[in-house]
Amino acid sequence: MTRLRTAILISGRGSNMDALLAAARAPDFPAEIALVLSNRPDAPGLAKAKAAGVAVAAVDHKIYAGREEFERSLQLVLETYRIDFICLAGFMRLFTPWFIGQWSGRMLNIHPALLPSYRGLHTHERALADGVKIHGCTVHFVVPEMDEGPIVAQAAVPVLDDDTPDTLGARVLAQEHVIYPLALRLVASGKVRVAGNRVLGAPGESTDALVAPAVL
Ligand code: GAR
Repeated sequence: MTRLRTAILISGRGSNMDALLAAARAPDFPAEIALVLSNRPDAPGLAKAKAAGVAVAAVDHKIYAGREEFERSLQLVLETYRIDFICLAGFMRLFTPWFIGQWSGRMLNIHPALLPSYRGLHTHERALADGVKIHGCTVHFVVPEMDEGPIVAQAAVPVLDDDTPDTLGARVLAQEHVIYPLALRLVASGKVRVAGNRVLGAPGESTDALVAPAVL
């Protein structure tokens, strides 16, 4: 089995990275994590990945004159490691259309809300402020528009009376760790196809696997 050479891009603690690394240790997982790359040299996740024996690199966005210069360096590192696929996992920089064009159909992101609700930041605070009863997380293909793109997997969690942004965020995060490996497995094994804005089962494949666990 050829495994998809995948890079995980992080900016912080890297708990989703941990979940992907753990899943990719299974011999039948269709992707191998060939690189963990951060825009922050001091990201705690980088040290964790290094300790786990994974190749790591940092491209510090602050030293570049502009976004595209930064992205050209990222691209060079990704090409050096012969990366085929990218998982954004708490990578907190927006990309230009140029970079997204390089990785069209080959880049996933995880977002801590049930898209298309709550794009952007502070999703748990905003969900609580709106009084919604169900919240969750989404794995989607990356397109030039922020937090848009075909949805691969979602998981829902209840919003409880005594929730704070932290408790709700922790409940969502636990589900992020479930659906991101699931989504990468589906995409890397070629079991899904993109039809417009929808991600469907590939010909002959059941779409059952697209249904993420709901913990209601
Ligand atoms: C996760 O909750 C992820 O969904 C979110 O950042 C956190 C990173 O945590 N991503 C975004 O908000 C992207 N806009 P982690 O570093 O522990 O995986």
